[in-house]
Amino acid sequence: MAISVDRIRGDIEEIARRTQTPGAGATRPTFSPAWGDARAYVIIQAQQAECDVRMDSAGNVHARLKSLPWDEPAWLCGSHVDSVPHGGDYDGVAGVCVALELLRSAAQDSVTALPLELVVFAEEEGPTFGLGMLGSRAWVGDLTAEHLDRLRNAAGQSYLEAGSAFGVDPSRLRDDLIRPRRYLGMIELHIEQGPGLWRRGQRLAVVYAIAGRRQYRVTVTGEANHAGATSMKDRKDALVAAARIIAELEPLAERLSDKTVITVGKLANHPNAINVIPDRVEFTVDLRSDEDALLERGDVQVRRTVDNASRGRGLPCRIELTESIPATKLDERLCARLRRMAEIAGIADVPNLVSGALHDSAVVAKHVPTAMLFVGSEGGISHNPAEFSRVEDIAAAATVIEHLVRRPTLRRLNAMDRDAFLAVCGPLFEASPWIAERAWANRPFASTGDLHEKLTRIVATSGEEEQLSLIRAHPDLVGRLAREGRLTRESTAEQAAAGLDSLTDDEIKKFESYNAAYREKFGFPFVICARENRKEAILAAFPKRLANSREQEVATALAEVYKIARLRLADAVWED
Ligand code: GLV
Ligand code: MN
Ligand code: MN
Repeated sequence: MAISVDRIRGDIEEIARRTQTPGAGATRPTFSPAWGDARAYVIIQAQQAECDVRMDSAGNVHARLKSLPWDEPAWLCGSHVDSVPHGGDYDGVAGVCVALELLRSAAQDSVTALPLELVVFAEEEGPTFGLGMLGSRAWVGDLTAEHLDRLRNAAGQSYLEAGSAFGVDPSRLRDDLIRPRRYLGMIELHIEQGPGLWRRGQRLAVVYAIAGRRQYRVTVTGEANHAGATSMKDRKDALVAAARIIAELEPLAERLSDKTVITVGKLANHPNAINVIPDRVEFTVDLRSDEDALLERGDVQVRRTVDNASRGRGLPCRIELTESIPATKLDERLCARLRRMAEIAGIADVPNLVSGALHDSAVVAKHVPTAMLFVGSEGGISHNPAEFSRVEDIAAAATVIEHLVRRPTLRRLNAMDRDAFLAVCGPLFEASPWIAERAWANRPFASTGDLHEKLTRIVATSGEEEQLSLIRAHPDLVGRLAREGRLTRESTAEQAAAGLDSLTDDEIKKFESYNAAYREKFGFPFVICARENRKEAILAAFPKRLANSREQEVATALAEVYKIARLRLADAVWED
């Protein structure tokens, strides 16, 4: 059963309906009834997909197929369903629905023990308690129960109080932290929230880094007085002082770098009355950059701007740092794996991006290998009811993740029965499953390198007849089978990677005459690792190898067969 675009669309629409502001965007503050409904929807869907569901003590939801024990290593996959006020339908939700669909399609395929754990993190966004990524930070142990108790929502409830109905349990918090050994890694699908992919017509990106963030609370103190009776020179207007600071922050970001941004997103004016000079203004500052050095310089300059205003106007201005998260590099090997899986899924042109927005992935990345996929956002609009991404792209990302999570880890391969092992390792050598059949007895394999070495040793120590049959099992490059679309899945992709599926008539003729001459001389087809060579290099290799002796060519062909098997193995098995 393939990933279903319609089911993903249905989930996104269902969750969108659960908002506090119908018709005016997604408003689902964490622990609100709307958020609780959205979360309950995900839980019910996961249960219907034959999952066990558990809440951790920080308020996050986890779900696994019942066939996968909680202590078996799995990929974490998910995001969040809380939203900013009047946000969009895709931020966070897209990633949760992808994980849900992966579980559902596995259940329908009777895939037992799919190593995947859906996670719905609580309070990713931040506006509800004034700090973001609370669920993930508490789960990894970055926030204590005491800290969570100090964070208050608009109703004055602490995170612990408001979350108690949703599994938040300070007494268990310390014993219920992430156990990194239970995770192969974390993959989060998210919308880009910027214009790049949409503008360039690209469907997916691999995110290799997440910008860091510093957040501040600034308080400017003035003096309340009568708006009519106080002359302009006698007044101590906190709002005017705040406005000057804010106006200076914009060019400051631009001076730092084109990827540094500063936002004043929240401001409270006191007493906020038409005929009273404001005596107190509080506002937030959110500073982000992809480089820690720029965050550091930005920090100095934001503080200086506030201090200068304080000195210049004689009004006390206080600045407090409320959050500091460094820029995060995501896992290089996992990013490369996702890119390769996208290629295998037939999705071309997948760029590498830095995320300007923060995500729970930045928190989890300190504990397990983590990577993200982005899908395009129409017009780059997000945190806005108009936010839109194509469900088809979200489903394509799900397919990429499915490729990754359905491939076994080496640990699972070592534990497989013979048939399952042959299904994975049989195709490593073209139409020659006998090699994997013999390797089966050599389990367990210490690494994929060890497995490869054992496989190649079987070939090297087999007789000349078997070696020749292995070489002869390879199709001609650009031969009849290729033209008729009858190559193995692996060979089709390999020949395409070398550009052999788009040759001119002249080039095809050259291949045909070289193939014929080679077969004529040696009695077997020309074998070369197509993924490591472009068509020009292959055409250049023909005349050189035609000059070799038969013995040399048997050895060369086998060396190429080993390279092909190494690359196929790297695609087929994840070394955990
Ligand atoms: C989350 O959306 C953030 O980056 O603020
Ligand atoms: Mn988000
Ligand atoms: Mn967001």
